[in-house]
Amino acid sequence: MSIVITGANGKLGSLIIEQLLRKVAADQIVACVRDLEKAGRFHEYGIEVRLCDYDKPDTLEQAFAGAFKLLFIASSNQDDTIRLRQHAHVIEAAKKSQVGHLLFTSFAFPEQSSISMSHLYMATEHAILTTGIPYTFLRNSLYTDFVGVLGLDAAVATGELRISPGEWSFNTVTREDLAQGIAAVLSEGDHRNKIYELTASRSWTFDDLAAALSELSGKPVTIREDAEIQNWIFGFLRKINTSSASPDLERLIGGSVTPLRESIRPFITTI
Ligand SMILES: NC(=O)c1ccc[n+]([C@@H]2O[C@H](COP(=O)([O-])OP(=O)(O)OC[C@H]3O[C@@H](n4cnc5c(N)ncnc54)[C@H](OP(=O)(O)O)[C@@H]3O)[C@@H](O)[C@H]2O)c1
Repeated sequence: MSIVITGANGKLGSLIIEQLLRKVAADQIVACVRDLEKAGRFHEYGIEVRLCDYDKPDTLEQAFAGAFKLLFIASSNQDDTIRLRQHAHVIEAAKKSQVGHLLFTSFAFPEQSSISMSHLYMATEHAILTTGIPYTFLRNSLYTDFVGVLGLDAAVATGELRISPGEWSFNTVTREDLAQGIAAVLSEGDHRNKIYELTASRSWTFDDLAAALSELSGKPVTIREDAEIQNWIFGFLRKINTSSASPDLERLIGGSVTPLRESIRPFITTI
C-alpha cells in the first residue's frame, strides 16, 4: 500500500518527497514522473519510479496501481482548457485504479475569483467529488515566489519599491512550507474529506515587504505607488483572493511558516 505522488520531478513534488522521507520508509513512496530520465535520484533513495503522463491515459492506471493515497499535483500546462482534460484523465484513472484516498493540490479560496485558473481548480475539485473516492483538497496559496517579478533588486538599488496603487495584502507562503504541510497530511492523521486552505495565517502587506527589504539590504526601501506601472502581475493579483488567511497550514506543520524576510531572500541577488 503506497503513497503515490504525481509531478514528482517538479519543484513542489520534489520538496514533498524530501519531507515525506523524514516520516515514512522509501519503499512506501512511489514517484510518478513524465520523464523517467530525470528521476535518477529517486532510485538512489530506494523510491519506486513510474511513468505518468496526464496526456497519455494509458500510463495512468498502471502508475496509480496499489495507491493507498494518491497525491495529484495539478498540471503546469499554461492552457486551463488543456489542464481540464489532463485532470479528467487523472481522476478517471484514479477511479479505475481504486485508489484509497485522492489528495489534490488546488488553489486557495478559488470561489472568490472568477478567472479561468480558479474555474479549473473548482472544476477539478468537483470532478474528484463525482468519483466518491475519499478526498483532500490542499488549496495552496500563491507561492511567495511572485515577489520575483516585482523588481526587488531595483528596489534595493533605488530605495523605492514601485507598486500599482491599491489595498494589497498577501497570504502567500513558500513551497517548502507547503511541502511540509502536505507531507504531514500524507503521513499522519485522518484527513479524508477535508479542505485545507494552505496560506499564511496572517497576510502581509507591501509595507512589510519594504521593511524586510530594508532589513536584508541594510538600506532604507520605501513604497512608491505608481498608476503608470506596467507589470502584468498586478492585473493577475487583482483577480485572485490574495488576502484571506487561514490557520490550516500552521496547524499541519505544528509551527510558524517561514518569515517573509527569509522567504524573499532567494529573490534578491544583490545581498
Ligand atoms: N500556487 C502557486 O503560486 C502556483 C504557481 C505555479 C504553479 N502552480 C501549480 O502547482 C503545481 C506544482 O507547482 P511546481 O512549482 O511544482 O511546478 P513545476 O515545478 O512546474 O512542476 C510541475 C510538475 O507537473 C508535471 N507535469 C506537467 N505536465 C504534466 C503532464 N502532462 N503529465 C504529467 N506530469 C506533468 C511536470 O513534469 P515535468 O517535470 O516532466 O515537466 C512537473 O513535474 C504546478 O503544476 C501548477 O499547477 C501553483
